[in-house]
Amino acid sequence: MTTTLETQEAKRSHSDTRPLLLEVQDLKVEFNIRGGVVKAVDGLTFDVKRGQTMGIIGESGCGKSVTARAILRMIPKPGKITGGRILYYRRPRHPKPGEEDKVEVIDVTKLDPDGEVIRQIRGGEIAMIFQEPMSSLTPVYTAGTHINEAVTLHRLLPIKKLGEQMAEHIMAYRHVTKEEARAIAVEMLRRVGIPKPEQRVDSYPHQLSGGQRQRVMIAIALSTEPAMLIADEPTTALDVSIEAQILDLMRDLQRTTNMAIMFITHNLGVIASMADEIVVMYMGKQVERAKVVDLFYNPKHPYTKALLQSVPRLGPKTGQRLASIEGMVPDPLNLPTGCVFHPRCPAFMAGKCDKIVPRWTQVGENHWVRCLLYEE
Ligand SMILES: Nc1ncnc2c1ncn2[C@@H]1O[C@H](COP(=O)(O)OP(=O)(O)OP(=O)(O)O)[C@@H](O)[C@H]1O
Ligand SMILES: [Mg+2]
Repeated sequence: MTTTLETQEAKRSHSDTRPLLLEVQDLKVEFNIRGGVVKAVDGLTFDVKRGQTMGIIGESGCGKSVTARAILRMIPKPGKITGGRILYYRRPRHPKPGEEDKVEVIDVTKLDPDGEVIRQIRGGEIAMIFQEPMSSLTPVYTAGTHINEAVTLHRLLPIKKLGEQMAEHIMAYRHVTKEEARAIAVEMLRRVGIPKPEQRVDSYPHQLSGGQRQRVMIAIALSTEPAMLIADEPTTALDVSIEAQILDLMRDLQRTTNMAIMFITHNLGVIASMADEIVVMYMGKQVERAKVVDLFYNPKHPYTKALLQSVPRLGPKTGQRLASIEGMVPDPLNLPTGCVFHPRCPAFMAGKCDKIVPRWTQVGENHWVRCLLYEE
């Protein structure tokens, strides 16, 4: 379960020198269903640094949500992680003096999905905003109860003492009181733009609009001050001004708490403004990964190019959503041979792309692509 830190962090040649938080290595997730095996995630590799925003884009069904759920060990049955590792570089959430730099590396794929360790991590250290807000709110709990529960379970408050130089030193931690938890709940609801938060804190999910439920979920996720937020289409149901407010809030928390964000969306405008790096997925496979500027100005994979070109120039919000690109998405039970994108690819090379599975190839600093065009 726990490995030594070794020199993995030191070995990286990335320009981004922030410490590692999450390292996904060759992750594979399969659904064994009637009719065959769906390879929902097939060989995904990326890492997330502390304070970094990693974006994941790709058409519907490419494996974005399954990836997010794998990190928290919440893959629905009959899904299974069948390969790879998910290393979480865990730091004490409430470090005692001298513990600030302590790092424990946990392979999340080896944890018991119902066990103590993942339950501490889930929600508190890695929080998630789900794509379907209703399914993750409990109907009999008010908005406030949801937030109270998360905060009471995962957040401690420092007990500070004045030290020799009169600077504050953290001596110990204590649990949040009921009143403090309620105050945090009201404040979080205010920050996500819920009107009259002092009253709304006592509302049940069915008394809230779809957009408000989405914002309550965001408030729950952010209330624990997680080391990483996984945001799966977090602002889809929201109007443009609320969306802007939520994105500002995320950036703000990122600045003040150094939170990392894994941001999943169809909205290229949002991803361009939020992400440092982007992973592009197609049919469970990672086809390209690059820094956001390189991906937008110098895309390499024909699929990425098609995605970027497919942006219709319409309204301010709908206009930035991914339109469908040429050709049919293949049947996940019957994937094409060679490169899975070849039947739709404008750069298709007969006899090559339908035969050879492309390798993960480096094409620039921190820029990787899976396409035969870039293999010598
Ligand atoms: N519970 C399940 N049972 C069987 N197959 C599933 C299940 N959940 C997901 N899959 C399959 O896994 C693949 C990836 O699904 P996933 O939900 O990750 O897509 P996505 O990229 O999040 O799509 P969207 O943009 O629509 O949210 C799909 O082929 C899907 O059919
Ligand atoms: Mg999804």
